[in-house]
Amino acid sequence: MRADTRATWPKDDMTNETTRPNRSGNPRPQQGGKPRVRNDKPNTNHRRHRAEPEEKFIRRAIPEIDTPFTRMGIDPRVAINLPGLGIETPSPIQEKSIPGIVEGRDLLGLAQTGTGKTAAFGLPMLTRLLNIGRKPEPRTCRALILAPTRELATQIAENIDNYAIGTPIRQFRVVGGASINVQTQRLERGVDVLIATPGRLIDLIERGAVDLSQTKYLVLDEADQMLDIGFIHALRRIAKMLPRERQTLLFSATMPKLMEELADSYLNDPLRVAVNPPGQAAAKIDQGVHFVNQGDKAALLAEYLSKHVDELAIVFGRTKHGSEKLSKLLEKWGYKVAAIHGNKSQGQRERALAGFRAGDTKVLVATDVAARGLDIPEVAHVYNYDLPNVPENYVHRIGRTARAGRDGRAIAFCAPAEIGELRAIEKAMKAKIAVVGGEEPFEAAKIRERGGPAGRPAQGAARKRPARRPSRAPKSAPRA
Ligand SMILES: Nc1ncnc2c1ncn2[C@@H]1O[C@H](COP(=O)(O)OP(=O)(O)OP(=O)(O)O)[C@@H](O)[C@H]1O
Ligand SMILES: [Mg+2]
Repeated sequence: MRADTRATWPKDDMTNETTRPNRSGNPRPQQGGKPRVRNDKPNTNHRRHRAEPEEKFIRRAIPEIDTPFTRMGIDPRVAINLPGLGIETPSPIQEKSIPGIVEGRDLLGLAQTGTGKTAAFGLPMLTRLLNIGRKPEPRTCRALILAPTRELATQIAENIDNYAIGTPIRQFRVVGGASINVQTQRLERGVDVLIATPGRLIDLIERGAVDLSQTKYLVLDEADQMLDIGFIHALRRIAKMLPRERQTLLFSATMPKLMEELADSYLNDPLRVAVNPPGQAAAKIDQGVHFVNQGDKAALLAEYLSKHVDELAIVFGRTKHGSEKLSKLLEKWGYKVAAIHGNKSQGQRERALAGFRAGDTKVLVATDVAARGLDIPEVAHVYNYDLPNVPENYVHRIGRTARAGRDGRAIAFCAPAEIGELRAIEKAMKAKIAVVGGEEPFEAAKIRERGGPAGRPAQGAARKRPARRPSRAPKSAPRA
């Protein structure tokens, strides 16, 4: 169903950029002005890097290249890796945030899912690390990237590795579910970029395996989730251990107003960059809502899936148990399916994702553990089997499709009891989702039109039917 495979970035409808004066009171340079003059002299400080990468680095001359990224201040040793990764023209969020980050500013960057936020913080951060060129002390890290899930941390680590090919910069990823002793050992040497989930990082800090007193760069990917209830306590503890003099970068596709105030407390005189009004779904997602009774959802899902058996689809359920049950049922009906949720072992989670990335399994049933950040370009369909109870997560869930300018389809299954959630999602996105099937309960439709109360089912809406598990495969399933 894909027409285009290359990145075509959606038009930047609105830029909500506040360029505050710098500390000396002078206005900062505007985007699109004269290209920054770069100092391309080799930085001899790098010679102090540890033995093996140092040699490679010395042998590799700094490439003399001129690309849109070097013109924004990205180190040529990093920029040279980008065409090989399909990154040639900066996306809007990259254009707007890279120059400020290279300059050393704190930044809050908001842009839709799949628009290249990882490179927007990764490339300038690597540039700054290369420019300082100091070797990390034992048991310290020079930069810290925090992410909410193990899988996302792994993906960021892979991206950083790719951007840093041929440079002396090394990343290390620490997440739960893997041996803490191995992680402790590796940290003894110190690391340039540490990518972590907060829980495991705190465990390592408590063991004395790592100390953050020399960490001059902090990135919170999925910042609004990192500031939310599940992570905020860990984050506060971590922030206390970081030096006050540091550069902090916060990125997400969503940032509820209340969270923004909290975000501010982690930032010092930040640039704020918002591509399009924050909280919107990615431009090329064809969205729809299908009204259906809870007990009929599985059969409806099978109908949708069977129309696109060769394409990758993610199905989001609300609970671990429900997602597991659904994946078993789909498997029984003949679909190539894997499940990823908090009750799976780390090995199972990794295998499920690897099989899905490779296209061996076509359907991934997941809880919100897979809602944010995961970049699997071939995902063509997202089904919200259950609507999320955190409205922002809808935008993230459906953002697993239509990445880097591709197109994709997202269908939400809405049971009568979920009208409240649907309303809350539409309110958060400031947009209505088109009805593509089923009948919207009459009273609920009226409330939806009036913009009525979110969070609870409409009065008079069809009553929730108890979920029943269909015993037989629908006719549309691949095999009986
Ligand atoms: N300038 C670019 N040109 C083409 N492709 C790009 C560019 N920048 C990033 N990409 C690709 O776009 C895809 C999405 O990037 P990324 O995962 O960083 O998005 P994101 O904005 O962080 O999304 P999410 O909000 O879901 O986390 C990746 O496959 C990445 O390689
Ligand atoms: Mg991301």
